[in-house]
Amino acid sequence: MYKIESKVRTSAPEYQQNYAYNKKKIEEFREILARIKQGGPPKAIEKHKARGKLTARERLEKLFDRNTPFLEFSTLSAYGMYDDQAPCAGIITGVGVVHGKEVAVVANDATVKGGTYFPITVRKHVRLQEIALENRLPCVYLVDSGGVFLPLQDGVFPDKDHFGRIFYNQAKLSALGIPQISSVMGSCTAGGAYVPAMSDETIIVKGEGTIFIGGPPLVKAATGVDVTPEDLGGAEVHTRISGVSDHYAHDDEHAIQILRNILESVPAPKKFPLDISEPEDPAYDPEEIYGVLPRDLSVQFDVREVIARIVDGGRFHEFKELYGQTLVTGFARIMGYPVGIVANNGVLFSESAQKGAHFVSLCAVRKIPLVFLQNITGFIVGKEFEHGGIAKDGAKMVHAVANAQVPRFTLVIGASHGAGNYAMCGRGYFPRLLWMWPTSKISVMGGEQASNVLLTVKKAALEMEGKTMTPDEEKELAAPILEKYEREGSAYYATARLWDDGVIEPLDTRRALGLAISMSLNCYIPEHQFGVFRM
Ligand code: COA
Repeated sequence: MYKIESKVRTSAPEYQQNYAYNKKKIEEFREILARIKQGGPPKAIEKHKARGKLTARERLEKLFDRNTPFLEFSTLSAYGMYDDQAPCAGIITGVGVVHGKEVAVVANDATVKGGTYFPITVRKHVRLQEIALENRLPCVYLVDSGGVFLPLQDGVFPDKDHFGRIFYNQAKLSALGIPQISSVMGSCTAGGAYVPAMSDETIIVKGEGTIFIGGPPLVKAATGVDVTPEDLGGAEVHTRISGVSDHYAHDDEHAIQILRNILESVPAPKKFPLDISEPEDPAYDPEEIYGVLPRDLSVQFDVREVIARIVDGGRFHEFKELYGQTLVTGFARIMGYPVGIVANNGVLFSESAQKGAHFVSLCAVRKIPLVFLQNITGFIVGKEFEHGGIAKDGAKMVHAVANAQVPRFTLVIGASHGAGNYAMCGRGYFPRLLWMWPTSKISVMGGEQASNVLLTVKKAALEMEGKTMTPDEEKELAAPILEKYEREGSAYYATARLWDDGVIEPLDTRRALGLAISMSLNCYIPEHQFGVFRM
C-alpha cells in the first residue's frame, strides 16, 4: 500500500489558527471529562469511603489486568441533564481485560444519588448489554444501587427499554452462554435485586452488600416488623440461608479477587481469523489533526489528511480515487487490523453514493470491518440531480450499509446532517460503536439552513395574507432557531442523550478503534446478504 502524501504545511497561518482553536476545545473537553470522572459530590464520596468501600472507578481498576486498556462508553452521559445531579449518569460502563479476556462491565456509582437509575442510566446499562451481545462479552455487574430514581420513575420503569429490560437481557444473554456475573457491593433494592438474582454467579460483600425485594422501611410499613438491612438480606443471609448469593466476600478487594477467579474459569472466545499484522504508528503525528480540522465545520478539508494520521504507517490503498470524489474509500490497517474506510470529502453525489455502495459490498464480501468517517451535510439537491436519480443512488448506499454483515464503526469527525447520516452508518444503522469528536455536530440540518427553511415557510404564509416581514422581524425569527440548533447540535448534547457511545478526542481514536475491532472478532462474521438494489 502507498503512504498518503500529506500536503499539510504546519507553518501556514490557517493551520496554526485551526491548531490553536482545536487544541483549546480539546483541553476544555479533558477538563469536563476529569470533573465528571470524580463522581458524586465530595460529601457523598467521603461518606462512601468512610464505610471502607472503594469507589466505582477504584473497583474497576482493581478488576482489570494491570496495564491493559479500558474502553469506557459514554462518560458524558446525562451531561447537563437532571440539574447536573447525575455525572456519568451514575453508572460506569465499558470493556476491560481480565485474565486476558475482554469483559463488559457495569459499575454503579453509589456517590451519585445512591447509585439510583435515571432514565439515561437505564439506557446506558441496556446499551452495554447490547454491546455484550453483539461482541459476545461476559458481563460483570458491580452492584451498588438504590434502584429506580423515584422522582423520574415514568422514564425508568414502565416502557420496554426501561428497568425490566435489564433482567430480560440477563436471561437472554445467559441462555446464549454469555456469562452474567455480579458482585453486590452495596445496596441492591427492589427491582435491582434481580441483577444478582438473574446472574449465573454472584458475590456479596459482608456488612455492605444487601439484596432485598423490599427494604426495611417497606417491611415495617407492610408488616409492622422492624428488621435491619443485614438481617433482611445481608451476606450471611444470602450465602448461608437463602442461596441468592454464591460467594461471601469480606470487603470490596476480596470481592474483586473472587470476581477475577470466576472470570479465570470462563473459557476464552475463539477469535474470527482476520489477517492481522503488527501495529504501526501513523506516518504523521496525530496531533496535526488539530491543525487539519477547520474552525468552521462548513469549510471543506481533505479527509485523507485525517486518514493519514489514523491508519498504520499512513498507508492507504484508495479505491476509485478518480470517481465520485466527494467520498473517499479505501483499505488500510488500524492497530494491525485490516479495515475498509468510507470517508466524506464533500456532499454526496450520485457517483459518490454508487461508489460507496460498491466499496461497502466489497468489504462485506471480503469480510473486512468498515470504518465510517462522517463529515457530511447531506446529499446534493437540485432539479438536475433529482432527474439524475440521486434518491435511488443514495438508496443503494443506504441499502449496502444497512445489510453489510461485517463489524461497522462510525466516527463523527465533523458535521453529521441529513440523509448523509444514514448512508454513513448513523446510529439508526446499528454500527457496533459510534463516537463523536468533541468539535463535531449532529442535527437534521445546520442551524442556518433550518432557520432559512422556517423563514421561507413563514414568509410564504404571510404573503397569502398580503403581508411581509421586515429585516428585523426576520432576524427575530431566526435567532432562537440558530441558538437552538447550535446548542442541540453539539457533541456534548448528543452524548448526554446517548446518541453515541461517547465523545473521544482525535488522539484516542486509534486506540478506541483497535479495541473495538478486537472485541468484534469474538463473533463469526456471517456471509453477506443483500436485498434488492434499485438500478
Ligand atoms: N430515588 C431518588 N433519590 C434517592 C433514592 C431513590 N430511590 N435513593 C436515594 N436517593 C437519594 C437520597 O435522597 C440522597 O439524596 P441527597 O444527596 O440529595 O440528599 C442520595 O440519594 C443518597 O442517599 P442516602 O440515603 O443519603 O445515601 P446512603 O448511601 O446512606 O444510602 C441507599 C443509599 C440507596 C441505600 C438509600 O438511600 C436507600 O435505601 N434508598 C431507597 C432505595 C429504594 O427503596 N429504592 C426503591 C427503588 S425501586
